[in-house]
Amino acid sequence: MKRVEYSEYGGLDTLSVKETPIPEVDADEILVEVRAFSINEIDWKVRNGDQKIMTGSHFPRGMGCDLAGVVKHCGAKVTEFVTGDEVIGWLDFKHAGSYAEYAVLKTPQLAKKSANVSFEEGACLPMVGATARQALLDEAKLQPNQTILINGCTGGLGHYAVQLAKQVGATVTGTCNREHTTLAEKLGVDDIVDYTQTDIRQYGKTYDVILDTSKRLPFSEAKPLLNHPGIYLDTQPGIPAFIGSFFNNLFSEQKHDVLGVTVKRADLIDLVQRASEGTLKTIIGKTYAFEDVISALREVESKQVHVPGKIVVTV
Ligand SMILES: NC(=O)c1ccc[n+]([C@@H]2O[C@H](COP(=O)([O-])OP(=O)(O)OC[C@H]3O[C@@H](n4cnc5c(N)ncnc54)[C@H](OP(=O)(O)O)[C@@H]3O)[C@@H](O)[C@H]2O)c1
Repeated sequence: MKRVEYSEYGGLDTLSVKETPIPEVDADEILVEVRAFSINEIDWKVRNGDQKIMTGSHFPRGMGCDLAGVVKHCGAKVTEFVTGDEVIGWLDFKHAGSYAEYAVLKTPQLAKKSANVSFEEGACLPMVGATARQALLDEAKLQPNQTILINGCTGGLGHYAVQLAKQVGATVTGTCNREHTTLAEKLGVDDIVDYTQTDIRQYGKTYDVILDTSKRLPFSEAKPLLNHPGIYLDTQPGIPAFIGSFFNNLFSEQKHDVLGVTVKRADLIDLVQRASEGTLKTIIGKTYAFEDVISALREVESKQVHVPGKIVVTV
């Protein structure tokens, strides 16, 4: 089988597509034939070595976390899945490897995909779908009468967050590039702010919840835009953010919540259900073929593609 691999932490030049044996599964493992995977920024942060403390130093390593595919083989102790099931799945950062023709996962990392959700759509859901869900519903506990600013409302994380916030009944302000305002409107954003024209910091409104997907509105700059009480959902975990948030949260009712997603099976099941019911739509900005995966990454990592929603590779 073909698998994107690297043998040392580093940039794109560490990557190659290797021919490797299809892996054997242990009794509690499931072999999935990957039909599509989606690209997340964390994939190349892990490859660059930014998460070394968590991901360790064993090589070669695979790349990628999100996938959708078909169960090819189940270990003897697997009871929830059978060969032929269509699934979506998430590999944790340490055991990444969804950029491949096959991947091995365990039951908690998988959920059955319904037939009306395509493999491409299914492959987009795990990481950013679960992040949106955990951030808005579990951390912020967003309420119908609340206001939320989603700074970057049409990207992978943002477009799911808008839909979840609207389902809760919250009032959503969303920022995006001028090119993406029509999509923001379709997603249901109540107040659309074109960030090329308006600086959200000078917009004159405050919010109960702020989710910054853009990396351009850190907590220090978002705090004046928060209500009392209010909560800022930080997508950029790191030691300074954890320390800063700890001390801030001791004394302030404007909370700084640092997100660190771990996708759980319940998230995956819920996301598939919402997608299947049509209440969580997936926008796919661009699709690449597996043969082009390295050039796709070159384009995506260097921001040569500027599309809304998710970027998907079909296998
Ligand atoms: N901590 C966690 O657990 C966790 C989990 C998942 C993701 N993340 C992080 O969350 C971030 C977002 O992920 P993603 O997949 O949604 O990325 P993405 O698809 O690239 O989206 C980025 C967003 O930023 C917007 N943006 C760019 N410049 C902006 C500006 N000047 N002002 C306002 N918005 C601007 C983009 O809007 P336009 O396209 O309209 O320009 C787009 O909506 C990434 O850094 C990712 O690593 C963290």
